[in-house]
Amino acid sequence: MTQAQARKRHAQLVEEIHAHDYAYYVEAQPKISDRDYDRLYHELLELEKIFPELAAPDSPSQRVGGEPLSEFKSVRHSVPMLSLDNTYSEEEIRDFVKRLEKLLSGEKLDWIVEPKLDGVAISLRYENGVLVTGATRGNGTEGDDVTANLKTIRSVPLKVQSGAGILPAKDRLEACPTMLEVRGEVFMPVAGFEKLNAERKAAGEELYGNPRNTAAGSLKQLDPKLVAKRPLDIVVYNLGKVESASAHPKTHTEVLDWLKSLGFKTPEKIWHCHSADELISAINELDKVRKNFPYETDGAVIKLNSFAQRERAGFTAKAPRWAIAYKYAAEQAETKLNGITIQVGRTGALTPVAELEPIFLAGSTISRATLHNEDEIKRKDIRIGDTVVIEKAGEVIPAVISVVEAKRPRNAGPFDFEKFLHGKCPVCGGKISRDPDYSAWRCENLQCPAQATRRLEFFTARGALDIESVGGIVADKLVERNLVREPLDLFELKLEQLATLNLGNEESPRTYGEKNATKAIAAIERAKTFPLSRWIFALAIPDAGKTTAQDLAKFHETIDGVAKSQLLKDILDYHEKISELPGLRRENPERHERLKKEIAEVADRLIASHFAAPSKKRSGAGFQPAGGQDARPTKKAEKELGIVTKVGPVVAKSVLDFFASQNGKQILRRMKELEIHPASEKISATKAAGLPFAGKTFVLTGTLPTMTREKATDEIRARGGGVAGAVSNNTDFVVAGEEAGSKLEKARKLGIKILPEKEFLAMLGSGSKDTQKKTGELF
Ligand code: IVH
Repeated sequence: MTQAQARKRHAQLVEEIHAHDYAYYVEAQPKISDRDYDRLYHELLELEKIFPELAAPDSPSQRVGGEPLSEFKSVRHSVPMLSLDNTYSEEEIRDFVKRLEKLLSGEKLDWIVEPKLDGVAISLRYENGVLVTGATRGNGTEGDDVTANLKTIRSVPLKVQSGAGILPAKDRLEACPTMLEVRGEVFMPVAGFEKLNAERKAAGEELYGNPRNTAAGSLKQLDPKLVAKRPLDIVVYNLGKVESASAHPKTHTEVLDWLKSLGFKTPEKIWHCHSADELISAINELDKVRKNFPYETDGAVIKLNSFAQRERAGFTAKAPRWAIAYKYAAEQAETKLNGITIQVGRTGALTPVAELEPIFLAGSTISRATLHNEDEIKRKDIRIGDTVVIEKAGEVIPAVISVVEAKRPRNAGPFDFEKFLHGKCPVCGGKISRDPDYSAWRCENLQCPAQATRRLEFFTARGALDIESVGGIVADKLVERNLVREPLDLFELKLEQLATLNLGNEESPRTYGEKNATKAIAAIERAKTFPLSRWIFALAIPDAGKTTAQDLAKFHETIDGVAKSQLLKDILDYHEKISELPGLRRENPERHERLKKEIAEVADRLIASHFAAPSKKRSGAGFQPAGGQDARPTKKAEKELGIVTKVGPVVAKSVLDFFASQNGKQILRRMKELEIHPASEKISATKAAGLPFAGKTFVLTGTLPTMTREKATDEIRARGGGVAGAVSNNTDFVVAGEEAGSKLEKARKLGIKILPEKEFLAMLGSGSKDTQKKTGELF
């Protein structure tokens, strides 16, 4: 085949495959069998193998391509991606319509009602018809470049007008726009979500919570190959910037028609309305049919149809004046409370759970709901045997809202928490006590297996160390079989132990298997290289959630740095001293003066540590003086306003207490033994750039003659390099000491540069000066 022939055939194949993708994924009306489709696709790949230049960005072969990214680039939206104001009642809709009628007085208003998809807002940019960039909404002005991930979604056209050949000519409104931004919502269809969860359940993996968060989590994956496995889909409903020779839509309905003709999937159904009454009945109709949509909707969007009118109505700072969202109330249902069970959380908190007569509500069968705590049960006077009203609101776990007292059985007595538990933990039989600060009862036994399992689940969860294969039933069994008592025990698990782990029971054993175990061990190894913020979060320090963990990691370099943080001590000290001041001037003027001086000193230190670096981002990110985000405070302002620290005294105390406790100390010791030294991302991002080892990954193996591994790790990190536990294609150097084993062998095989200690020391020597300079700048 000549190149010209190949090009021609390739173009035909691309057209055909796009057309079949459209028929299958957008229209849900496949025109050929899967087998015939695979044949076309295979032919395309074969051609591209021989003529690689044919694999252009809009070739269907490019849907899943590319290597995992190390991070997403930022993209600035050419037109901001705004949000919508929310309404919750008919009255608010009537007010909204009145407002617009007044604003555009005398004009006839044509309204559109559209489903509000519960997904992730994204923007797609096409240049000369070809998809070039896809981005998330981010903060509305700037989002993440997730092009590679979006390309894996088959209903995202790689090239517009891919419907050509399928769409009748009358529906093809115009030739290709030179630039087109299309906006819409990526979601996971409910059916796809359920299938995914069923597969995870069968594999003993932790289940995903709901379709929306799963879609959002999928788009955040750095490896497009993983995203390709997730059943994502898209619906578009809006334009960003458009440059086009002939298409100038004047109304929203024209936009939807146009987008449809270009090959996009548009909302399932829309309504035209001309008054508040019509809007309300459309919203009620939508509420009835939306349950049959393939995706989840959490409301209706009301928008003006005419663009000219939209322009006259204008925008507020964050939302258009010409549109509004109406949120449907959470769905409720009545069912019987068959019993109450008690769950033991990772801190030992005992949470009552309602065991319900199963009932179908908002798309799924509910058989359990949270009862929160003892006080809530008392307040609502919930009794076993009662008929209760349950509610499911979006991502929230179903909750028991109230009791239908008229239906209460005569023998149902008030629920007594302590008596129900016979005063002991339902799992380990340990002592329980009621926490005076919270409404919670707690199991006091730190060794309680239920607590250990919950801690392990938290530690391995996606937002923490992302060792998903160790969640759910695997966590249960690891604790039950005494293989893991504390999360850090994971790092000493052997492949063999995991592979033979019985996830079933004695009668019907079901082992975890070598393949799963290998995957899990790799994920465990990978966790060692995760940044400081993830580790702080994973340790489940009370009051240190994800955002706090990120804030802490911005201002500390290592976990030891957090544990002994002068900064946190200063924050605590500062707030304690400030709280002592009131009234002191009269009672003890001398002490008052002294304290004020001390406060000024601490304040100076606090401010110095946060305003030393000139970067603007820094002051916004963490700790700031009251009265302004970026302004460096004057002495006067400091004294009068005090200092507002994002990480406040409660968190500071909790973090310091945690690391000072026996348990915290033990964790730090253990991490050192396991050679886990998480470093701050902030350092890798800002400091590492320009450092001699920036972007380089080292692996240490064998015993170094003069240096401990710990020291070598610190030295590498101080120069902006990373240290990984295993040799892979991403490894740049292997530092090999005596008796180096399989890692050295693998490095040789992969052709990775191997450094004996002497060479490594020489490298360190040449990089040291630079390192010190940069470190000095940071704090
Ligand atoms: S129109 C200028 N239409 O809801 C704002 N938004 O709460 C244009 N959403 O950020 C938005 N379905 O991500 C519009 N049919 C629909 C929608 C929709 C879902 C999302 C969108 C927006 C958010 C606002």
